[in-house]
Amino acid sequence: MNTLFIGQNRVELVTVNSTNNYALELAKTGRIADGTLVWAHEQTAGRGQRGNGWQSSPDLNITLSIILRPELDAYKQFYLTKAVSLGVKEFVEDLIGNSSEVRVKWPNDIYVGDKKIAGILIENILRGEQINTTVIGIGLNVNQCGFSADLKNVISLKLITGKTYDIKTGIDTLCEHIEPRYLQLKTNKHNLLDADYHKNLYRLDKLCEYEKDGTLFKATLIGVNGQGKLLLKLEKGETLSCDFKEVGFL
Ligand code: BTN
Repeated sequence: MNTLFIGQNRVELVTVNSTNNYALELAKTGRIADGTLVWAHEQTAGRGQRGNGWQSSPDLNITLSIILRPELDAYKQFYLTKAVSLGVKEFVEDLIGNSSEVRVKWPNDIYVGDKKIAGILIENILRGEQINTTVIGIGLNVNQCGFSADLKNVISLKLITGKTYDIKTGIDTLCEHIEPRYLQLKTNKHNLLDADYHKNLYRLDKLCEYEKDGTLFKATLIGVNGQGKLLLKLEKGETLSCDFKEVGFL
């Protein structure tokens, strides 16, 4: 595998409640190599964003967590979201080619067309004003073709290309895509990450429907602000900045 540190040290688990839980505990025990990857064949209580769960059939998909020591000022934490989302997006593009549009649905879901192929759960451990440790959890649908009825709008690599993928090889390739984006963050290429994240946003510049506080409205997604809040331009011209839990895409 062609990386400097991401995924060079690995923990492979047959089954675990959540690789993020395992990685967070591992990180707290002290010395653990930067870029250590924890992956599991099966998660029994995978966690998603907003307190949701993450469902993934055993051995069919990528469920992993990467432990990083970014030493990043906490106010810049959205750059981790930008860097990792772009890395995962580029991995998906690499595997499916240009057949469909791959986008980042704010803040960090990866979409192919209008369907979700991957989710990211970033959990930070702060020391003072700095992010000392971050655990990047990634769930990516690879070979799964049937999903439970309550999961709408999901897709996998196999559903797109018809091919079956080797999970270990997929993990290697994913690391190879995430590392260069993470190194851009480490070397302060903020403008590049800003520009690439912006231009790859799902629904960018399109008038679509959203929900906030029980109200439905139409707006144009125009980007994110410095704190990573979503910027929606309303039809009357006013711009709304929304926190993660405040807004729903319809
Ligand atoms: C989301 O879209 O809600 C984020 C999903 C993140 C799922 C991954 S699977 C590996 C890691 N371990 C977890 O418990 N969650 C993340």
